[in-house]
Amino acid sequence: MKFPCLIVNLKNYREASGDDAGLFLDYAVDLLDLGVGVYVAVSPIDIARYAAGEEYREVLFSQVFDVVEYGSYTGHIPLSRLVDLGVKYSLLNHSEYKMPHENIKELVSAASQRGLETVVCVDSVEELRKLIGLGVKPAAYAIEPPELIGTGRSVSRYKPETVLEAVKMGEENGVPVLCGAGVSSSDDVKAAMDLGVVGVLVASAIVKADDPYITMKAMAEVLANYKK
Ligand code: G3P
Repeated sequence: MKFPCLIVNLKNYREASGDDAGLFLDYAVDLLDLGVGVYVAVSPIDIARYAAGEEYREVLFSQVFDVVEYGSYTGHIPLSRLVDLGVKYSLLNHSEYKMPHENIKELVSAASQRGLETVVCVDSVEELRKLIGLGVKPAAYAIEPPELIGTGRSVSRYKPETVLEAVKMGEENGVPVLCGAGVSSSDDVKAAMDLGVVGVLVASAIVKADDPYITMKAMAEVLANYKK
């Protein structure tokens, strides 16, 4: 993955489903010229169509996978299928799709062996501590206090001490840390960077913006021009 980065999580918002998911992917491709990572996490229902071809290879993120292999796993999303589709990145353990820690360990390690990079979400510093203690080493962790998700109240301003603690723990263990939840403006992104993260995850402020491209661009520019 390229850091610093902006990960736009489309979740299953209507405004970003089906054909409309493609708009966000186009915006991300356009913004790569800024020289930062710009990624779009697409719903499992839509990801296969966008993985076909090379166009979105560098910006396409999966939201989840939950078993390693093909097989008798009704309703599951196999890592093997994502890899065969050419997907290079995935979130795991988002607050809206929590997983048992032992599963996360197995999935992260299988993914890394197959060249798929993971960003593991944690809802607290305690959860981060537990996963690090288990030896889970993704490409990055993302700290997202669930009570701030979708509120417009940014974790970087309302829970800075949580982010700072997570960043410190990440640094001590050699894993980069992102933050997300309520991030709504360029100033929120700047405040996050001031806390030492290597990027942000954003959903509602971009998906529901009047002009999502303008919001994405403004946030990505903060990352591109950031100086401590
Ligand atoms: O994965 C990012 C997400 O959970 C944050 O959501 O709407 O607060 O930006 P939102």
